Amino acid sequence: MLKRFLSYYRPHRLIFTLDMLASFAVSMIGIFYPILTRSMVGEFTSGGRDYKIIIGGGIGLLLLYVIRMLLNYFIQYEGHVMGVKMQAQMRREMFDHLQSLPYSYYDNHDTGKIMSRMTNDLFEVSELAHHGPENVIITSITVVASFIYLATVNWLLTLVIFLCVPFLFLIALMLRTKMRDAFKRSREAAAEINGALESSITGIRVTKAFTNSKVEREKFEVGNVEFVESRKDAYRSMGQFHSSTSFITNAFNVVVLIAGGIFLFMGKIEIADYSAFIVSVNLFLTPMTTLIGFMEQYQNGVTGFSRFLEILEETPESDSEGAADMKTVEGHIRFEGVTCDYGTEVEVLRGIDLDIEKGKTFALVGPSGGGKTTICHLIPRFYPISGGKILIDGKDIREVTLESLRRSIGIVQQDVYLFNSSIRENILYGRPDATEEEVVEAAKRANIHDYIMQMPNGYDT
Ligand SMILES: Nc1ncnc2c1ncn2[C@@H]1O[C@H](COP(=O)(O)OP(=O)(O)OP(=O)(O)O)[C@@H](O)[C@H]1O
Ligand SMILES: [Mg+2]
Repeated sequence: MLKRFLSYYRPHRLIFTLDMLASFAVSMIGIFYPILTRSMVGEFTSGGRDYKIIIGGGIGLLLLYVIRMLLNYFIQYEGHVMGVKMQAQMRREMFDHLQSLPYSYYDNHDTGKIMSRMTNDLFEVSELAHHGPENVIITSITVVASFIYLATVNWLLTLVIFLCVPFLFLIALMLRTKMRDAFKRSREAAAEINGALESSITGIRVTKAFTNSKVEREKFEVGNVEFVESRKDAYRSMGQFHSSTSFITNAFNVVVLIAGGIFLFMGKIEIADYSAFIVSVNLFLTPMTTLIGFMEQYQNGVTGFSRFLEILEETPESDSEGAADMKTVEGHIRFEGVTCDYGTEVEVLRGIDLDIEKGKTFALVGPSGGGKTTICHLIPRFYPISGGKILIDGKDIREVTLESLRRSIGIVQQDVYLFNSSIRENILYGRPDATEEEVVEAAKRANIHDYIMQMPNGYDT
C-alpha cells in the first residue's frame, strides 16, 4: 500500500523535494531565537555593552523571519496544490474504474457512500499526502535540533526537561484519541440523519399520498435528538483536550522555569544559558502539538486511501478473450436454456428458450418479479448468465465486445433519468454525433417538439 501511495508523488518529485527543503529551513530558522537571546544576555552579564549584537542580531533575525515567511508561503501554497493534484489523479482513476464496474456493483453499494469516498476520503488522503512528510520533517528536526542545541548549552538541564516530554505527550495523545472517537460517533450520527433525511425527502410524494407526515416527523426527531447527544459528547472531549493541552504547555513552562531556577541558584547554569532555555520551550512544544494532530491526520488518510484502493480492486466488466466487434446487426435474438441467478443461490430464470425474429415486436407479460426486466437486462449483458446462451444473429453475445454490443441496442428504462444538462444534450445522449435535424426529428416523434419550442431557450433549456 505504501509503495502504491508513494507512486502518486512521482509526477511531483521536484515540488516535493523543494517543499521538504523549505520545511527543513523553516524549522532550522526557529533555533536562532534562543541563540540570539543567549548572546545578548551573555554580553550583558559578562560586562560588555556592545550594541552591535542587539542591532545586528535583531536585523539578522528579522531577515531570517522574512525568508521563513516566504518559505511558509511556498509550503502552504505549493504543498496544497501538489496534494490536490494527487487527489485529482486518484479521483480520475476512481471515476474511470467506477465507469467500468458492472450493474451488480451498484445494486450493492450506496450512491451516497461512493460519493463520500470520492470527495471526503480522497480529501483526507491529499491532506496527509502533503502535510504528512512536512509535519514529520518539521517536527522531528525542530525537536532534535533544539535538543542538540540545548544539550550543548547545558546537558543536565536538557536531560531533565526532555525526560518529561514523553509523559506529557502521552497524556495529550490519550485525550486526543478520546476526542477523535467522540467526533467519529457524532459524524456517524450525522451520516445517519442525512441518510434518513434523503430518504424522507425523496419519498415525500409517497408520504403525502399516505398522509404520513407525522410519522416522518417523529422519525426525524429521533435522529435529530441523537445527533445533539453525540455532539455533546464530542464537545465534552474537545473541551477536555484543549484545556488539558494548554495546561500541559503551561506546566512545561513551569518545569523549565523552576528546574532552570534551581540550577541557577545552585550555580550550575549561567544566566545567559538559562534565558536560552526559557525562550526555547515553545520551540519544541509547538511541534509536539502538531505531531499529535498529525497522528489523527495519518489515521484518516490511511483509512481514506485503503477505501480508495478497495474500490479500485473491484473487478470491472471485461470482454472475453478474442471478443470481436459487432458489425451490422440484423436483430435476431435467441435464448437457449438461459439460467440466471444474479450470483446468488436462487435461480430467477431457469432454462429459458426464446426465439425473437428480426423486426418483430415482442411483448413480455407476467406478474411482478416474474423476470421480465431480468430477461431484458441479460441481452446487453448487464448481468452474467449462469447457464445456457444468448445469441444475436446466431452469434453468442459473450463473443463480442461489450462496447459494440451495447452500442447496437437502444433501451428505454423503466425510470427515465435526465442528466443535468440541456434538453439537446439529453436527446443527444443516445448518439452524440447526431445532427440538429435528427435531434428535432426525434423530439417530434416523441411528441415533445412543440413543448420544447415553447420554452424560452428551446433546445438549450
Ligand atoms: N439485481 C438483482 N439482484 C438479485 N436479484 C434480483 C435483481 N434484480 C431482480 N432480482 C430478482 O429477480 C426476480 C425477477 O425480477 P425482475 O425485476 O426481472 O421482475 P419483473 O418481471 O421485471 O418484475 P416487475 O413487473 O415488477 O418489473 C425477482 O425475484 C427479483 O427479486
Ligand atoms: Mg421489471
